[in-house]
Amino acid sequence: MSVWVIGAVAPLREITTSTRPSTAVSRTCGENDTVNCRGRGAAGAADALSPPAATTAATAATISLFRTFIPDSPHSFGYAAMVDREKITLTGAQETMLATLYGRALDSRLPASILHDDEAARAVKRIDYDFRKTGIKRTSAVGVAVRAKTLDDWAAAFLARNQEATVLHLACGLDTRAQRLSPPASVRWVDVDFPEVIELRERLLPSPAGDYRMVRSSVTSDEWLQEIPADRPTVAVFEGLSMYLTKDDGKRLIQRITERFRGGELLFDCYGTLGVRLQKWVPAVRRTGASLHWGIDDPTELEAWHDGLKCRESRNSMELGLDQMSALGRLNMKMLAGIPGFRTIGQILRYEF
Ligand SMILES: C[S@@+](CC[C@H](N)C(=O)[O-])C[C@H]1O[C@@H](n2cnc3c(N)ncnc32)[C@H](O)[C@@H]1O
Repeated sequence: MSVWVIGAVAPLREITTSTRPSTAVSRTCGENDTVNCRGRGAAGAADALSPPAATTAATAATISLFRTFIPDSPHSFGYAAMVDREKITLTGAQETMLATLYGRALDSRLPASILHDDEAARAVKRIDYDFRKTGIKRTSAVGVAVRAKTLDDWAAAFLARNQEATVLHLACGLDTRAQRLSPPASVRWVDVDFPEVIELRERLLPSPAGDYRMVRSSVTSDEWLQEIPADRPTVAVFEGLSMYLTKDDGKRLIQRITERFRGGELLFDCYGTLGVRLQKWVPAVRRTGASLHWGIDDPTELEAWHDGLKCRESRNSMELGLDQMSALGRLNMKMLAGIPGFRTIGQILRYEF
C-alpha cells in the first residue's frame, strides 16, 4: 500500500523484504511520444467521474493510501549527547525536510539500502525532534529513497555528459545529494534553501569537497540567481519543492533558470492536482502546518513556458518501487492507478532546455 509523504511525491508502500532499486516504468516525453505524455494526467481525467462518485472513491482510496503506520522508533538511531543535539524550531515547509531526511536515514539501515545515506542517519542522531511526527516508517522510507535515487541517477547522467557544469540543488534541506554524487572539481555545486535551513545544515552536515557553495535565500527571490555564473550547462534539481510554490512562482523560477543558462535540464518531482486537493491526508504536511499549492497533471503544459523546454521523461510515482512490493501491494497499486487522478498523483519529471 502506498502512502504519500510530505512535500514530495514519494509513494510509500508496504514492501516485501527485498529492497532492490526500482525498475520503474519510464516514459519519454519527446516529440514522438506526445500521446503518452499529453494523455497522462490531463486534468480532465479527474472529472471523468461525477463529483460525488469521484469524491467517495477518492476518499476511500485515500484513507487506504494515506494509512498511517506505527513508525519505527527514532531511538533505534541512538542519540548524540543532549548538549550536541539541535533543537528544531522550524515549521511548515521547512520542517518537512525532517521527514525526507528521516526516510533516507531509515533506508540507510536496511540490509539492501538504496541510497546508503549514512550521513542522514548521523544527522538524525544529532537532532532533537520527535521523528514519529513525520509519519515515516521503514517501508515508507523506501519510497523516499527510490524517488531520491531516480533524481540522483538523472543528475549523474547529466554530469557524465557535461564534465564542466553547474548544479543548482534547490530546496536542498538536509539532503546530502552532493556527497552521494561526489562530482569532480570541474562541477560547480550550489545548494539553496532558506537561511534558517542552511544554518542548520551547516551545523549538522559536513561540507562536500570541490567547488561547493550554499545560498541562503528563497528560490523565488530574483537576486540569488544573478550571483551564479551563467557560463556552463546547468542542471537544476529540486526535490520536494514544486508543490510548496504557487504555480506563478514555479513558472517564474523555471523561466529565470531557462533564460539565464544556455542549456541544461530541470529534474524535479511534483504532485498532481488531486494530490494537492488531498494534502491534509499527508501526516507531515498536516502536522507541520505546511500548505501545498501547485499540482501538475500534464507535464507538457510547462513546455510553453520557454522556447526549447521539453519534457523528456516522466515517472509515475505509483509505478515506482513496484519491485519491492508484495503481489497484494502491486494489485492495490493497479486498482488505485485506475481511479481518475490517482495515476498522476505524483510524478518525477526530467526536462531539457
Ligand atoms: C520536503 S522538504 C525537501 C528537502 C530536500 N529536498 C529533501 O528531499 O530532503 C521541502 C524543502 O523545501 C524548502 N523550500 C520550500 N519553499 C522554498 C523556497 N521558496 N525557497 C527555498 N526553499 C524552499 C524547505 O525549506 C524544505 O527544505
